[in-house]
Amino acid sequence: MTEPAGKPFLYVVVCAAGVASGVGVLIAEARERGWEVGVIATPAAMNGFFDAADAESRTGRPVRSAWRSPADPRPFPPPDAVVVAPATFNTVNKWAAGIADTLAVGTLCEALGLGVPIAVLTSVGEALAVHPAYGESLARLRTLGVRVDEGRAPGGFAWTRGLELLDRP
Ligand SMILES: Cc1cc2nc3c(=O)[nH]c(=O)nc-3n(C[C@H](O)[C@H](O)[C@H](O)COP(=O)(O)O)c2cc1C
Repeated sequence: MTEPAGKPFLYVVVCAAGVASGVGVLIAEARERGWEVGVIATPAAMNGFFDAADAESRTGRPVRSAWRSPADPRPFPPPDAVVVAPATFNTVNKWAAGIADTLAVGTLCEALGLGVPIAVLTSVGEALAVHPAYGESLARLRTLGVRVDEGRAPGGFAWTRGLELLDRP
C-alpha cells in the first residue's frame, strides 16, 4: 500500500475497558493533528467494547485484532508512534512481562524495540491497581521510556493526553 507522503503513522491500541467506546475522540483528534491512524484492538476489545466500524470509517483502514496469515502483506506501515488507550491491567502486565499472545501485545512488545514514542493512558480500577504486579509492570515500562498516565480525569477520559504525551521530550 502506498502511503500519502509526509504523514506520520500512529498505532492506536485499544483494550477491553468500558471507556473504550469513546476511542473515536482520540482517532478524530489524532487525524486533526496530522496523523494517519491504524487501530489495533485486543480480541477482548472486539467483543463490543468499541464501535470497530466507526473506527474503520474514521481511519479508512481495517481494525486489526488477529495475526495476519504468513502469506498476507503487513496491513499497516511501521509505526512512527503508538498510543495505548485505554490500557487495561491485563494488557499492561502482559506487555511488561513480554507475553505476546495477542496482536496488540505483540505489537507493543515490538514497538519497544523500534524505539518509537509510546504513550499509555490507563483505565484500571483501584482494587486492581494495588496488585503488586501492576506497579512493577508500570515501573518497568517507564524505565524503557514509555510515557504513562492515568486516562481517568474529572471531565471524562483524557483521550488527547495520549497525543500530548507523544510530544514530550
Ligand atoms: C464492562 C467491562 C468493563 C471493563 N473495564 C475494565 C477496565 O476499565 N480496566 C481493566 O483493566 N479491565 C476492565 N475490564 C476487564 C477486561 O475486559 C479483562 O481483564 C480483559 O481480559 C482485558 O483484555 P485485554 O487486556 O486483552 O483487552 C472490564 C470488563 C468489562 C466486562
